[in-house]
Amino acid sequence: MSLTCGIDVGGTKIAGAVVAEDGTVLEHRRVVSPAEDPEAIEDAIVGLVADLGSRHALTGVGVGAAGYIDSGRSVVMFAPNIAWRDRALREDLQERTHLPVVVENDANAAAWGEFAFGAGSAFDDLLLVTVGTGVGGGVVVDGELYRGASGVAAEIGHMRVVPDGLPCGCGRHGCLEQYASGRALLRQTREAAATDPGAAVLVAAAGGDAEAITGLAITAAARDGDPFALRCLAGLGRWLGEGIASICAVLDPGVVVIGGGVSEAGDLLLDPTRAAFADQVIGTGYRPLPQIVQATLGNDAGVIGAADLARR
Ligand code: BGC
Ligand code: NA
Ligand code: ZN
Repeated sequence: MSLTCGIDVGGTKIAGAVVAEDGTVLEHRRVVSPAEDPEAIEDAIVGLVADLGSRHALTGVGVGAAGYIDSGRSVVMFAPNIAWRDRALREDLQERTHLPVVVENDANAAAWGEFAFGAGSAFDDLLLVTVGTGVGGGVVVDGELYRGASGVAAEIGHMRVVPDGLPCGCGRHGCLEQYASGRALLRQTREAAATDPGAAVLVAAAGGDAEAITGLAITAAARDGDPFALRCLAGLGRWLGEGIASICAVLDPGVVVIGGGVSEAGDLLLDPTRAAFADQVIGTGYRPLPQIVQATLGNDAGVIGAADLARR
């Protein structure tokens, strides 16, 4: 049975995994992402592949990268949250790892992972939304990953949802990512905590400093029933649900899968997302609607999908 390595390069961390043909993860590692430094990112990927490859016989590498990848699955043309411009990632990595490499958008890779082995396996048409540092999208149409004419389809994080809204890493203003990502959750929560007395528990847990509140702390507090933390997650869910309703007006997916780090909050995020979706989607009661579900592979969807794409 052949083993491939899946790598997931996000704005915050780089994950690497050894994955079998049936999607099983044999070993998993994670390092901090030096997002400001493309050379260091490549060094980190090469390091992960070498380390994992010292214990497993790898036949190829699939890299999911948070950016605009060309249709040849090799060049990172542009990335809003990573200092990558026109980078021949596939070539560089092949030279250094001596393995065949394919590069795919990180959310596309996660969509493929969920479609092949996770929450989407019973469907032909799937929309995956990753909620992490950024907001990513992956679309499977009729059993195939949809890449668009130049490889950069499904960049849902950069749909404009607020005219002249908050500035985005892509250079525009008002993108969904600025309202519905993990970073947005932190910003919104910290801002609200500065004035909302309801934030006391969360602020105390952050050592008295609202700016030190973390995503994990928000989720943990929400799990304990903290009303402020629940409101913050609900606010994020509302942006997500409304965004998904707009996307569904175009795509009509069979299922919507929510992945990325923040999705680990589960129904605390998904219930408000579902409510906002139900509120905004068109034709409720007269048409079938997709379920909105949590990624079954969790934050591993990206590495598993990337590893499987390396075989194709
Ligand atoms: C990028 C996408 C990426 C997403 C999630 C967005 O900012 O434009 O390419 O898939 O973040 O990482
Ligand atoms: Na994508
Ligand atoms: Zn943007």
